[in-house]
Amino acid sequence: MKIDFTNIFKSEAVSREEFKNSGEKIPEFLTKIGNRRQGFYQIFDDADFLVEVAEIKKFAGFCAGKYDDIVVCGTGGSALGILAIQESLISKFSRKKPKLHVLENIDDEVISELTEYLDFSRTLFIIISKSGGTIETISQYEYFRGILTEKNLELKNHLVFITGKVGLLREESAKSDIPTFSVPENIGGRFSVLTAVGLLPAALIGVNIDELLAGGRDFAKKFQNENLAENLSFQLASAQFLSKKPQNVLMPYSAKMKKFGNWWAQLLAESTGKDGKGITPIPAQGVTDQHSQLQLFVDGPADKLVIFIEISPFDKTQDKRDSVFKKLMQAELHGTIQSLTEKNRPNLTIQIEEISANSLGELFVLFMGATAFLGEFMEINAFDQPGVERSKVLAKELLGK
Ligand code: PA5
Repeated sequence: MKIDFTNIFKSEAVSREEFKNSGEKIPEFLTKIGNRRQGFYQIFDDADFLVEVAEIKKFAGFCAGKYDDIVVCGTGGSALGILAIQESLISKFSRKKPKLHVLENIDDEVISELTEYLDFSRTLFIIISKSGGTIETISQYEYFRGILTEKNLELKNHLVFITGKVGLLREESAKSDIPTFSVPENIGGRFSVLTAVGLLPAALIGVNIDELLAGGRDFAKKFQNENLAENLSFQLASAQFLSKKPQNVLMPYSAKMKKFGNWWAQLLAESTGKDGKGITPIPAQGVTDQHSQLQLFVDGPADKLVIFIEISPFDKTQDKRDSVFKKLMQAELHGTIQSLTEKNRPNLTIQIEEISANSLGELFVLFMGATAFLGEFMEINAFDQPGVERSKVLAKELLGK
C-alpha cells in the first residue's frame, strides 16, 4: 500500500513542513494510546487470540456442507466489518452456499421476509454482541431461538454466540452447550473486525482469514513504528487533522468497497464525535458518486478532505488490465482527482494493488490506527461512545414504561 499526499500540499491545506514536523508526536501519541489499554493493534500475537483463531478455523471446517444460510444478528461494530468483508471478497453473483445475511436492523418486514425464506434446519445464526445486552440483537436472538425451539431443532446446532466476558449471551452460553467465541475486553465494537466478530462469519463463507490477519498484523507493526515514513496510519491521521476539514469523504474506486465506506463511517463518527468535536464522514463511491455527490465536493463549501482509494498495480508494466472498464475507471479517477485539485480541494489517494483478504486486513488496521492517532490529535478518547450508550439506556427505559 502507498499513500499519495501530493494534492494535500498542492491545495495548501497542509504544508510539507508541518506534516513532517507532526511526526515528532508519534512516540507521545503511542504512549497515550498504550495507556488507553486498547488491543486492536496488539491481538495479532496474543496467545489466547491465536488459540481462538485456531478454534474458528476448526469450527468452520466442522460446519462445512451443513448450512445453506448463515444469519448474523448484530449491529454497529458487530455487523459493519463483516458486511465490508463479504462485499469486498465474495462475488454477489456467487451461487455458492452458505449464503451470508447480516441482519443489522430490526425492521419487521425484512425479518419476516428472511423468516419466510430460510430453511431453519439448514441455517446457522451467529449472535454477535460484545455487551451481550444490545436490545436489537437480543430481541433478534430471542425471536429466532423461539422459532428453532418450535421446530424442535437442537439450539446448539443452529446458534453460535460471539460476546464479551459478561452479559446475557455469556449467561445463556454458560447454561447451554451453544458454541461461544469471544470479543476481547480491550477491543471495542468498531475496532473488532479482526476478532471473531469478523473472522468467524468470514471463515464460514470461505474467506482466507489467515490472509486477513497477515495484512492486519503487518499494519499493526507499522502503526507502532515511531518513524513517520513507515507509519502510514499516523500520516493519514496527520493529514486529516492538519487539513482542518470538518468533513472527510472516503471514495474508493470500486463497486466492492461501498460497505467498507460504511464501516469506516462508523469508525470515524463514533470515535471522533466527542466534546463538541468531530469529523463527519461521507462515504462515497467511484464512479457512481461522480454523478451524485461530486458536484458538492468540487464546487460546494470548501469544508471537505477527500480520501480516494485507487486499486491498480504499482508497476504499470505489469498492469494486465486491458478491459475497457478498468481503463475507464482509472481515467475517471484521475479526472476526478484533477478536478478537485484545480479547485484547491485537498485530497489524497490510498493506493492498493488489488482487493484481497490481505489488502483488506491492511486497510482495516490503517484506518483503525489513523483513528486512534486522530483521537490524540483532537484530545478526545477515541475508544468510548457515551452517546450511543445513553440512547441504549433511554430506549430500555421507554420500553420499561
Ligand atoms: O462500536 C461500538 O462500540 C458500537 O457500535 C457497538 O458495536 C454496537 O452498539 C453494538 O454493541 P454490542 O456489540 O455490545 O451489541
